[in-house]
Order: sequence, then structure tokens, then C-alpha cells
Amino acid sequence: MMAMEAEAAPVRAALGLVGGGDLLHPAFPARIWTGSNVSLAVNGRDPRFAVDSIASQPAVTTTLHAIERTSPSIVISAGTAGGFASRGGAIATVYLADRCVYHDRRVDLATFDRYGDGDYPVARLGDVAERLGLPTGTVSTGNALDAPAVDRAKMDASAAVAKDMEAAAVAWVCERLNVPFTALKAITDLVDTVHPTRDQFMANLGAATAALARTIPELIAALEHRPGR
Ligand code: ADE
Repeated sequence: MMAMEAEAAPVRAALGLVGGGDLLHPAFPARIWTGSNVSLAVNGRDPRFAVDSIASQPAVTTTLHAIERTSPSIVISAGTAGGFASRGGAIATVYLADRCVYHDRRVDLATFDRYGDGDYPVARLGDVAERLGLPTGTVSTGNALDAPAVDRAKMDASAAVAKDMEAAAVAWVCERLNVPFTALKAITDLVDTVHPTRDQFMANLGAATAALARTIPELIAALEHRPGR
């Protein structure tokens, strides 16, 4: 599952997925490409705003339609993310999720706070991460590119290593449909530095996406050849 075309194009090339893909649903711009052992779904361009359909809403519909179409053995939310220098983050580091939460669904009402946080099931892939040399940690999702103090505090509390805009939405659908889920996130910007996120994102998108495109085929091969699978 990917949100931005600039992230997806190098990954498609690395996976040998060619052509224009198939529309997943007539009412949504998401498309899917299918190869011998992997499908890649991209949310597509919003027809009204003419930008990539990022954030949680399209992540939900695309994930639902892609799972219905392909019955996958695992779903991977792949893309770029903000990282944290204070937790060892660096540009183009690629993280594999071991936890997936929201940081901006603040609902201070009885157990709605826990509903807001989500904390969705994440496939236990520590062995795979070790084999590929991938660091693991919490992927934290919200619907904003910026990180106000209230969100930062939440991400510090979960020791987030990657701040994205889709993973928890994908994970929620996977939980409902009982499909194993993980997230693979490449760092474009460091949230806890003084440099504007937008400038870092634009400067580092190429390097982070290249790292993602190198890692995804390795992850898929490692999942396929996992002992006991
Ligand atoms: N994707 C890349 N950088 C991000 C950030 N800082 N926040 C959310 N999503 C991102």
C-alpha cells in the first residue's frame, strides 16, 4: 500500500511492475499493479484537488479494495515518514514497524482515548528485520505533516521512530479483515530538528525513496523464504 506516486514509481520499477495498473474501484482513483508474488496499490490522484490521495481516508478504501481483490498473505504500508534524531533517526533510514498507533486522535472520554490511539496488531517480524539489518520501532500515524507539541508528546510517549500519514489506517482495515500487517517507512525528514519539514522532505525524497525501493524486494524475498512459512 503506497500513497504518493513519487514514492511508488521507483518501487514499481524495482519490482518489475509495468503498465498503468488497474483501477480498484470506479469511484476512487486508486490503482493496483500485480506481479507473480506481489501486488502494489497506490491511492492515486484526487480528482478534485489533483494531488496524490495521501492520509488516512484513502488508505482505508484502497486497503479494503486491494485486500478484496488479492487476498494477500500480508499487507505492507510502505512509504516515507518523518524520523526522530533523538531516537537515532537519520535521513533514508528504513524502519520495519513493531507497533502502530495514531498520535492525533485525541478523545479525552473514558475508553475513547484508547480507541483513538488504535495500537493495531503488527506482524512479529523481528527475525526478518534482523536478517535484513532493518531497525524496528513504533510507526505513529496522523493526518498532518506538521507536528505540534501535543502530537510530539504523544510520539515521545510511544517512542515513535517514524511519523507517517497512512500506516494506522491500513492497519485498522487489516485488523478487521484478519490480514497480517506491517509497515516499512523510509525517513525523509527529522521531526525534532529546527529545519522546516517541507524543505527536508523535498530535499530527501529521492534518497529515501531509493532506499525504500532497494529494501522492498529484499523484504518480500525474506517473507517468502521465511522458515516455517
Ligand atoms: N512523510 C514524510 N515525512 C513526514 C512527516 N514528517 N509527517 C508525516 N508524514 C511524513
